[in-house]
Amino acid sequence: MSQRLKDKVAIVFGAGSDGEGWGNGKAAAVKYAQEGASVVAVDLNQQAAEETRNIILEEGGISIAITADVTNSIQIKNAVDKTIERFGKIDVLHNNVGITKMGGPVELSEEDWKVGVDVNLNSVFLTMKHVIPHMTKNGSGSIINISSIASIRYIGYDYPVYAAAKAALNQLTASVAIQYADQGIRVNAILPGFMDTPLIYKQISDAYDSVEDMIAARHAVTPMGHMGTAWDVANAAVFLASDESKFITGVSLPVDGGQSIRSM
Ligand SMILES: NC(=O)c1ccc[n+]([C@@H]2O[C@H](COP(=O)([O-])OP(=O)(O)OC[C@H]3O[C@@H](n4cnc5c(N)ncnc54)[C@H](O)[C@@H]3O)[C@@H](O)[C@H]2O)c1
Repeated sequence: MSQRLKDKVAIVFGAGSDGEGWGNGKAAAVKYAQEGASVVAVDLNQQAAEETRNIILEEGGISIAITADVTNSIQIKNAVDKTIERFGKIDVLHNNVGITKMGGPVELSEEDWKVGVDVNLNSVFLTMKHVIPHMTKNGSGSIINISSIASIRYIGYDYPVYAAAKAALNQLTASVAIQYADQGIRVNAILPGFMDTPLIYKQISDAYDSVEDMIAARHAVTPMGHMGTAWDVANAAVFLASDESKFITGVSLPVDGGQSIRSM
């Protein structure tokens, strides 16, 4: 294994997986460790965070698990403080947490609208608020925000709060990227397309007649003929986290098998 992140410290919010298998955050956390980073696996679900940490430790990597809710500023600060206590710095901030909420303005409750914005957008404002001061101190850092191609295209689901919050996340990414471009901190977004991760079986399958229908439709609509996997997102994240991408900042990078280019 190459050591593209040797001596770096990565904090991954949403490092667990919502069910069996490989979610985007879990794969990114494990991949960062495989590339030599010390990884802080943060998740709302303690068991999920510990599972990711244990995978990394079993592979001979370095990791700690922390429980925190990304909508809670105090809990985020606590996770960041613990990271600094243990590892002394933060090189990579990876914001993976995101949730879908189906329904348009009429169907969606006001409460769910607020939750959608809070979890998908405000959370990244909060993690950046607490992490960036540590990056400016070191004069370097890479922030990776997991958005979605739903932020730039209608992709077949009626979840405007998700689309709108992710679109705002892209512009938050671009705006902060420019603010910190001359201070060694890069900020980029990854826009996954249709990925075969545990999340879709919990949050998307209700939009179809059956799980089999969902899988077939998501394969069919992707120009490459199949969904991506969490490792496709993780590999892009490693590139953006590493110094190989040192002249890249403010981009929204689709990882989608070409889907965002093709009209539906
Ligand atoms: N799977 C896809 O097809 C797809 C497509 C486009 C974008 N995405 C994006 O990928 C990201 C999620 O990918 P995943 O496969 O890792 O999802 P996942 O749901 O498997 O994992 C997310 C993790 O976040 C944790 N989490 C949820 N709410 C939290 C909170 N408030 N605070 C802290 N942790 C919390 C969950 O416990 C879970 O372990 C999201 O941002 C999603 O919008 C996914």
